[in-house]
Amino acid sequence: MTDPNLRVLISSDRIQARIRELGEQISRDYPDGRLHLICILKGATFFMSDLARALKRDVFVDFMGISTYGKGKTSSGEVKVTKDLDISLEGADVLVVEDIVDSGVTLNYLLHVLEQRRPRSIRIVALLDKPERRLRPVDVSYVGFQIPDEFVVGYGLDYDEKYRNLDDICVLDGEPATG
Ligand code: IMP
Ligand code: MG
Repeated sequence: MTDPNLRVLISSDRIQARIRELGEQISRDYPDGRLHLICILKGATFFMSDLARALKRDVFVDFMGISTYGKGKTSSGEVKVTKDLDISLEGADVLVVEDIVDSGVTLNYLLHVLEQRRPRSIRIVALLDKPERRLRPVDVSYVGFQIPDEFVVGYGLDYDEKYRNLDDICVLDGEPATG
C-alpha cells in the first residue's frame, strides 16, 4: 500500500517489541487476581489482541464502545457509551486498553463510569500518548510510545474509518482524497 500522505512513525517491529515489554511488565505487576482487559472500540482492538497474548497469565477480555470524535480529525468534545461491558467488574483488577490518549476527555469520563462498578483497582494502558494535547488529567500507568502532536493512523487507528489495518503507525499529512 503506497499512499503519498502516509509517513511511517513507528514500524510494526518496534510496536511488537514494545508490546512484548509491556506484557512482561504487566504480568509482573499483576501476579494474581482476576485481571480484566477492557478494550475501547474500535481503535484498540489490534493492540489489545497482541497485548493479551503477550501477558503470561489468565485474563478476561471485554469491550466497551465510546465515541468522542466525529468524522475527521477534530474532537466533538462529547462522550457517549455506544456499547457497554458484558462481564461484571466487581472485585476485579481492571486494565483499560486504549489506542491513544489525546485530550484525555474519553478516559477521564470512562474512569468515572468504571469506578462506580466497584473493581478492586483500575489502571490504563495506552499504546500511544500525545501529552501536549491534554485537556483533562488522566493517569496512564503504561504507555507504549509518547508521540508528538501529529495525527496518526494504522495499527487500529483510523481517519474516517480508513487505514486501521496498516501494520505500521503512520503520520497522515494533509487531507487525503475520500473514497
Ligand atoms: P481523547 O478523548 O481526546 O483522549 O481521544 C481519544 C480518542 O481519539 C482515541 O481513542 C482515538 O480514537 C482518537 N484519536 C486521538 N488522536 C488520534 C490520532 O492521532 N489518530 C487517530 N485517532 C485519534
Ligand atoms: Mg479510540
